[in-house]
Amino acid sequence: MVIKTFDEYQAAYKHSVDDPESFWAEIAQEFHWRKPWKKTLQWNFTEPTIKWFVGGKLNITENCLDRHLATRGDQPAIIWEPNDPHEASITLTYRMLHDQVCRMANVLKRNGVQKGDRVCIYLPMVPELAISVLACARIGAIHSVVFGGFSAQSIADRINDAQCKLVITADGAYRGNKEITLKGTVDDALIGCPSVQRVIVMTRTRTPIAMFKGRDVWMEQELKQVTAHCPAEEMDAEDILFILYTSGSTGKPKGVVHTIGGYMVYAAYTFQNVFQYKQDGRTGPQVHFCTADIGWITGHSYIVYGPLACGATSLLFEGVPTWPDAGRFWDIVDKHAVNILYTAPTAIRSLMSFGLDMVKNHDLSSLEVLGSVGEPINEEAWHWYDDNIGKNRCPIVDTWWQTETGGLMISPIANVTPLKPAYATLPLPGVQPILVDENGKEIEGNGVSGNLCIKFPWPGMLRTTYGDHDRCKQTYFATYPGLYFTGDGCLRDEDGYYRITGRVDDVLNVSGHRIGTAEVENAINMHTGVVESAVVGYPHDIKGQGIYAYVIIDQAPVDNDTDLMKRDILATVSRIIGPIAKPDKIQFVAGLPKTRSGKIMRRILRKIAEGELESLGDTSTLLDPAVVEEIKEGVV
Ligand code: WT7
Repeated sequence: MVIKTFDEYQAAYKHSVDDPESFWAEIAQEFHWRKPWKKTLQWNFTEPTIKWFVGGKLNITENCLDRHLATRGDQPAIIWEPNDPHEASITLTYRMLHDQVCRMANVLKRNGVQKGDRVCIYLPMVPELAISVLACARIGAIHSVVFGGFSAQSIADRINDAQCKLVITADGAYRGNKEITLKGTVDDALIGCPSVQRVIVMTRTRTPIAMFKGRDVWMEQELKQVTAHCPAEEMDAEDILFILYTSGSTGKPKGVVHTIGGYMVYAAYTFQNVFQYKQDGRTGPQVHFCTADIGWITGHSYIVYGPLACGATSLLFEGVPTWPDAGRFWDIVDKHAVNILYTAPTAIRSLMSFGLDMVKNHDLSSLEVLGSVGEPINEEAWHWYDDNIGKNRCPIVDTWWQTETGGLMISPIANVTPLKPAYATLPLPGVQPILVDENGKEIEGNGVSGNLCIKFPWPGMLRTTYGDHDRCKQTYFATYPGLYFTGDGCLRDEDGYYRITGRVDDVLNVSGHRIGTAEVENAINMHTGVVESAVVGYPHDIKGQGIYAYVIIDQAPVDNDTDLMKRDILATVSRIIGPIAKPDKIQFVAGLPKTRSGKIMRRILRKIAEGELESLGDTSTLLDPAVVEEIKEGVV
């Protein structure tokens, strides 16, 4: 399954388009199936129905753990680097990880979790997070990991949507020099979550926390009660592996559903090929360091499932790139002889701003492949990464994909695909991109741009949105019938290379985090005194996009202190969604530019937020063109 040359890539691509079923069946055969599948693919993009490896039976943890024991039981599976560089790092071999996953799985069973039950995981980036994820998969429970930066309200929404029965959390988390409350936040969330019967709490910061008899148990004590013997549950290829919530242009975040067989095959195949992971690296098995949090899809696919399915060594980092100083990533690369570094443009831009002194005095010679993910990478950041981190000898794979795609979609294959700065380059085998205009008409040829869609299923794609299949259909399959719509704009240059230009819907990408403008507006509107708001993105040097909020209030703020009121609004947004959704700028306005039918003209608000006050285009269709002048004068 490993592509080594560009000719092999082209041959694999052709095979994957000419005969997708035999292409993917060959790859899937390399895994351990309890029972073979009867049909490789069943699909239509109308309902939609997508089934891969129909009738196949397996357990993903047997593929990620058990099958490696004979050949690489003593190889590191996970290397954990703590937040504080003075705390000892931990290495878990495949044997140790297997043992711990089985124990945790038994703890879940002991606490009433059965096959098909939903488990919410709200943990810091510690080994127990990966272990908990795998423990769910071991017994056929469905995990829903919630990123540690989300608020109690967001946790409650996610728990209620999936009707989770159990929550796994910790007392607190360390992030840089900060200590963050986790259990307290979970306690707040659970006031409105009747489905939750049990909370398993691990200690990390050992801060005093409330423990409610009958509901809350300590992970450490539970683990003492169980053995390391836990046979893996036999699962159907199309059983749900996990739910992961992500923002869209409307409403609350939706639960993207991934199923076991296809997701496993796709995560492993893309990991192995794009990063060209080597078991026999210069100093043994290569070390892969993906800096994302397991609370996002990048962590699911490229810290946990992809690397482990390939028997790789995956590094898990608890902290932040700028603590104790902005050289922390380079320190980790040096300390653990990292070979593959996979991070986000926002991190690169942030580290760039601290200057090259932070990179000096770290030995980065172990690096062989660099990756970028989450947002378009600008050429300046690309070259800085290439020159100063890769020292012009490591390919940069700019990987375009989404929570919904499960794995990498358009990306170079390291040392195989000729690169172009800021281009995601070419579709991976099995991926059939198509550009369409607003009417859904295909834009053919090269040197064109349009809306990016995918016209054929791939094994890692989402199957539904949890509890609401119609929402899945409307969001992804109804805009352009017969196509999966990504929400991204894209250009295809003269060489057929793809460059993602950004979202074409009302979704923002702030520091690589996906945030819906409607969600932020709803949160702002919950603040006392706010009548209405409109949120748009604007270019931000480090975050990629910043959040700009135009807010109408019903009367002068208390104490006439507008600055304090803005901070109150930020606190409200933090409470409702989480700190990541806090607007960077708030402008109080008397009115919003609306069409006669009452629709907010975001195009105009975007231009103003971008500072392009002179090129607002046609404003004559506005209900009240005067509001635009007023807004222009009050720009913050
Ligand atoms: C959106 C998906 C799965 C990766 C983590 C984010 C943007 C992602 C790239 C890239 C340009 C990118 C897109 C996409 N995006 N990778 N290499 N170049 N844009 O996952 O939260 O589901 O967000 O991130 O706009 O639609 P996500």
